[in-house]
Amino acid sequence: MGQSVVLYFSSTGHTQAIAERIAIATGSQLVAIHAQVHDTPTEDWRDQQNQEYHRTHVERVRPAIQAIDPAPIKAATTIYLGFPIWWATVPQEIETFLDSIDLVGKDVHPFCTSGETSIFEAVKQLRDGYPAIRWHSGRRFASSLTNQEIEDWAEED
Ligand SMILES: Cc1cc2nc3c(=O)[nH]c(=O)nc-3n(C[C@H](O)[C@H](O)[C@H](O)COP(=O)(O)O)c2cc1C
Repeated sequence: MGQSVVLYFSSTGHTQAIAERIAIATGSQLVAIHAQVHDTPTEDWRDQQNQEYHRTHVERVRPAIQAIDPAPIKAATTIYLGFPIWWATVPQEIETFLDSIDLVGKDVHPFCTSGETSIFEAVKQLRDGYPAIRWHSGRRFASSLTNQEIEDWAEED
């Protein structure tokens, strides 16, 4: 098996906690994606009216992210890509990242945390936006996940 990397974006730490566990369970290097300006909305995300940030999400405006060392990502054959669900899909920072590096030829396993929404729409958006990437089925993880669940998912096609 080749090298693997867990890449994640996390605003309030939930996805980070899962990403750390996936990195340990799969023996992967852990790499964080950070927004250059931490402008995550603090308003109630369910209140979709009058939210400037929600507009940028709908329009898929790409916010700048901090520089990431591409070497471990280029060397990896498997990527676990984690994010919180924002308004039913991926945070724009994930797309900024995907625009910045070529993951074609790698196996990419998306995972998320969320209040309740499934990963379905997010994976559809990723597949539609980046069709050349080998996307595997995504998984929403609850904080109660077991290491066995992680291992079963990582081995799945
Ligand atoms: C801007 C924004 C939009 C969100 N949209 C959803 C949503 O559509 N469905 C949902 O179940 N949770 C939604 N949430 C909740 C987050 O997905 C959830 O709290 C997640 O675990 C946060 O992960 P993090 O701590 O790694 O940032 C939203 C949170 C934010 C900040």
